[in-house]
Amino acid sequence: MTVTDHIAAEIRRHGPLPLERVLEVALYDPADGFYETGGRSGGRQGDFLTSPEVGPLFGAVVGRALDGWWREMGSPDPFVVVDAGAGPGSLCRAVLASAPDCASVLRYVLVERSAALRRLHAETLRLEDPALAFAPVDPDTEAPVPEAVRGPICVSLTELPRVKGPAVVLANELLDNLPFGLAERRAGEWWEVRVDLGEAQGPAPPAGFVQRLVPLDRERANLLDRLVPDPADGVRAPLQEAARAWLRDALALAGPRGRVVVIDYGATTATLAGRPQDRWVRTYRGHRHGASFLEALGEQDVTCEVAIDQLATVKRPALDRSQVEWLHASGIDELVAEGRAQWAERAGVGDLAALGARSRVTESEALLDPAGLGRFRVLEWAR
Ligand SMILES: C[S@@+](CC[C@H](N)C(=O)[O-])C[C@H]1O[C@@H](n2cnc3c(N)ncnc32)[C@H](O)[C@@H]1O
Repeated sequence: MTVTDHIAAEIRRHGPLPLERVLEVALYDPADGFYETGGRSGGRQGDFLTSPEVGPLFGAVVGRALDGWWREMGSPDPFVVVDAGAGPGSLCRAVLASAPDCASVLRYVLVERSAALRRLHAETLRLEDPALAFAPVDPDTEAPVPEAVRGPICVSLTELPRVKGPAVVLANELLDNLPFGLAERRAGEWWEVRVDLGEAQGPAPPAGFVQRLVPLDRERANLLDRLVPDPADGVRAPLQEAARAWLRDALALAGPRGRVVVIDYGATTATLAGRPQDRWVRTYRGHRHGASFLEALGEQDVTCEVAIDQLATVKRPALDRSQVEWLHASGIDELVAEGRAQWAERAGVGDLAALGARSRVTESEALLDPAGLGRFRVLEWAR
């Protein structure tokens, strides 16, 4: 059964489906969802390029930031870092390669719901039994951790672990990938966009699925009334329940001494509603913008810019900076200067170290591009 058949069958059984349900199947169906059948970032075969896929520089900056947060937390041992929506594991590999000071106590937990991508973790990282990531140091005896469980220890999981922190929970370009809903303003009311079968009642794309408006429930309508004052007729706004639920879970996991860091493209709900929908609901296929979001289901990525004020209804972030500001504050300039100096020294040798040093300069340009990755928001929740 293809994703399209699956969705058509559900509509026949239950009537028009919430968009969240359609995206859940299209992106994450365990057999045919986009992320199970090859959807991934980076590389020549990738569908989109994220900061960790630009090269190892981003992971080196994250390594420095982890050291800073570890020290602020009182240098806990173990130091649990959760990489939520880890994709193929590139961020983890780059963080480890940067040899952060916290490495010997680091428990790096990759959380990735796609089994196809988790297989890549096993191929490219030395993974340990997940129980080791949370093995506590006995606070009474302060017994030294046996050599066998010295860090860095990496484990790979399907979902956020249900344990209490302290932990740093990082999510790079995860929240824009969580299923979302859409609302539309019509005749002074908010309506929810549902997905129905087209006239022919057949599943065949592109004419197979159509959008239908049904009244939006009071709770979410009240939320939009607060976040989008004076909406014009016809405007659309995102509904990000899954992102809010993820944040609740991530805050519980981080614990009161921990930290949640979300890196993504984002704006307020009102700002998004003020733009045409195709500027904030984006599809990607083979490094290009894909088709409209109800077409090619299962064959393209579907993302929604993160509505930061909807996350703030769970808890207001302590810090909200652009990726440019965050990278500068976290030491990217020093790393690039180091790269330039090494290149100047080793250019004649032309070995891998020299080429790596030179690539830092080009990587930094991509990461700091104010019209590209640089304009992402870095949101931090800390005590
Ligand atoms: C756009 S990719 C980003 C990957 C990686 N963080 C990066 O920056 O390259 C989003 C990833 O999140 C995964 N994902 C989506 N929902 C998830 C969830 N609830 N828990 C864990 N992983 C999830 C997807 O399968 C996908 O690999």
